[in-house]
Amino acid sequence: MKLEHIQVPLVEGKREASYQMHRYYARKPSNIVSAYIQAYSQSNETVLDLFSGSGVTGVESIRAGRNAHVVDLSPLSAFLSRVTATQIDTSKLEGAFKRIEKAVKAEIESLYATTCPNTGEQVVPTHFVWAGPKNKPDEARISKVWYEIGDEKAERAPTPAEQEQADEAKKRHAEVWIPSTKLSYGDKEFQKSNVLKTVAELHCSRALLALGILRNAIQKERNVALRECLMLAFTAALQQTSRLVIVISNRGSKGGKKGKSTRSVEVGSWGRPSYWYPEDHFEVNVWNTFENRFKKVLRGKEQIVEELQGTRVVDGKARSTDSPTLHLHTASATHLTMLADSSIDYIFTDPPYGGAIQYIELGTLWTAWMDQEVDATQEITINPRQGKGAAEFESMIHEAFCEAHRVLKSGKWMHVTFHSKHFDIWSAILRAIVQAGFHLEHVLHQPPLRASSTALYQPFGSAVGDYYIRFQKRKKAAVVPEAMPDEDYEKVVVNSVKTILEEAGKPIMFQHILNRLFVLIFEAGALLNTKVDPISILKKRVGHEFELVPHEVDGEEVGSLWSIRR
Ligand SMILES: C[S@@+](CC[C@H](N)C(=O)[O-])C[C@H]1O[C@@H](n2cnc3c(N)ncnc32)[C@H](O)[C@@H]1O
Repeated sequence: MKLEHIQVPLVEGKREASYQMHRYYARKPSNIVSAYIQAYSQSNETVLDLFSGSGVTGVESIRAGRNAHVVDLSPLSAFLSRVTATQIDTSKLEGAFKRIEKAVKAEIESLYATTCPNTGEQVVPTHFVWAGPKNKPDEARISKVWYEIGDEKAERAPTPAEQEQADEAKKRHAEVWIPSTKLSYGDKEFQKSNVLKTVAELHCSRALLALGILRNAIQKERNVALRECLMLAFTAALQQTSRLVIVISNRGSKGGKKGKSTRSVEVGSWGRPSYWYPEDHFEVNVWNTFENRFKKVLRGKEQIVEELQGTRVVDGKARSTDSPTLHLHTASATHLTMLADSSIDYIFTDPPYGGAIQYIELGTLWTAWMDQEVDATQEITINPRQGKGAAEFESMIHEAFCEAHRVLKSGKWMHVTFHSKHFDIWSAILRAIVQAGFHLEHVLHQPPLRASSTALYQPFGSAVGDYYIRFQKRKKAAVVPEAMPDEDYEKVVVNSVKTILEEAGKPIMFQHILNRLFVLIFEAGALLNTKVDPISILKKRVGHEFELVPHEVDGEEVGSLWSIRR
């Protein structure tokens, strides 16, 4: 059967319930990943993702009747894939949840229970706002208590007894298991100025006790698959119950459909991908958060169980059968020793983009509560605390793609997706892949479902969305072309932008230029042999070949458009 290459961007679909069960950074749209798998592999063939993350490639492969090997250094990745793809009876899962509810809901709620001074009723608060001096978590105190009474969303100052109730929780910590994992690599802290030094300190003492009680009950579930689904709801609840949930001033919400709100603030989220201590933060009721996350897990499993009928999930390698099989490997992509030479039919993968997201650091909140230790020495990243700079990154990425080249069958394809603001990271990854022997065939810009208007209106902004880059393993390995003199490279960049603007026939946003620029530079044979960011070249050409004109939306100036200077 003749292969039809994907040459145009695809439309990103709505995120399915099965991919809303747990958060992960940089998750790829499943409908697009699936379209690539179906175009570049046949039923019963084997697909590989060597940087699997939340596991989209693996799950979509078995869903499409392929076998898959997925590899990631973090054990969280195999856990997410396993829980997503393992067959379970969802009515049994509901039963397992009910057992947990019966065992610990009342005990957890008693940690929060209080009396409404207006009505005298017993209530279980849903949230507490904590406030205190900057960088002094030990001195933080409750400043607001939230609960619902009838239709009303109440907010009031705490009583001394409520503060005492929260502080008392610490005395019971010895009753439960709480992780002792540090937020550091040996003696080097994840973040220099951070005041929170351990995973435990990411939660206040009452949340820790509640989480400990809950985890203990989950561990008693005997059925492994059900226990893992409950653990998924548990780990998914860890962010929202942490002290990293910020307080935002009320944006005028009046409590939505559910009635009147007298609340002065709103619940934010863990805004930045780092561990930090917001002095004003929420404490969210652990039971409620777990219950909400469980509902998402149940919905996700109900959606996917039917679709994955007849497939199986195994840890590591397994005897082959007729069923599409997902093989999970917690390992480094630089050592794919579990895979034989020329055993893979298609690779779809999404590598780390320099140090933009510190996957192992950020995953520590989850892996610590899973009681898993992760050795970051093998992580492919740029991170001075791990002693890894741009050179180490490029060399590790190269090692990983040498392995990818070894295991892929000759004549077959690999797609690598990129999302990086930094051109040097981009070109380092491309160079490393071509040096591993792959032929770079095609660059495609894949726009995101929605782009923020601030990103779009920037006159010199970086690319929004992803690039999907197609490589092929041929009999003869590829070689990186000779470096092009800077002057020639500048000409390629400037001429490419001229072409884009001439074709547009009117002033356009910089984002639209970028969408095609890398493709044109690649077609001119200049993408692989330069470290010079084309954006820096273009900035210097404004006032020469190009000019910026006002960009108006509804009569208001929102930014600038690029145009050819007449
Ligand atoms: C961009 S993410 C992949 C996200 C994935 N596409 C998804 O949809 O969820 C990159 C992944 O590479 C993993 N990683 C980093 N160093 C690695 C290594 N040496 N071997 C394997 N995986 C590694 C990280 O843990 C992270 O999950």
